[in-house]
Amino acid sequence: MNLTETDNEEKLIREKTREILRINANGSSSLIPILQQIQESLGYVPEAAMREVASQLNIPEVDVFGIVTFYNQFRLHPPGKQQVKVCLGTACHMKGGHIILDCWERRLGIKVGETTKDREFSLERVACVGCCTMAPVTLINDQVHPKMTPTRVDGILHAYQMEKQKDKEEGADR
Ligand code: FES
Repeated sequence: MNLTETDNEEKLIREKTREILRINANGSSSLIPILQQIQESLGYVPEAAMREVASQLNIPEVDVFGIVTFYNQFRLHPPGKQQVKVCLGTACHMKGGHIILDCWERRLGIKVGETTKDREFSLERVACVGCCTMAPVTLINDQVHPKMTPTRVDGILHAYQMEKQKDKEEGADR
């Protein structure tokens, strides 16, 4: 799912990117550390930042896009408020981790590496998180959800919706 930044967000992204480029202007930093700093500061590497880097460093945009898409350390989408990470380490894989990932993708309507349009959820796959006895595991904002099943995915999402609804109602009462 392609998320588009608002004009304001894009302005901020460009400013932040220029600031990072300024800091690195006199050093010997290559493209990768610059992109890492952008991700550290913004949580991902937005398209506007890639274009700004290409333009300021006078290199083809395709070279910058190539690096960001080649290394899976880089995120192309902003992290969601709820960061869902599905473990696909050996134990989780053996216990159906792929089914759980598929289930999250269907329920959220996004693919792994993407963020929902409302930016509530992002979905990633991760390697072993050290809870193999509880496989298959999903982490949500680093909280471990053990022994996942498709029904548990539905349950988590349902609980989340209820919580949101409650917050909305409480907000309306104030
Ligand atoms: S393989 Fe998933 S926690 Fe170890």
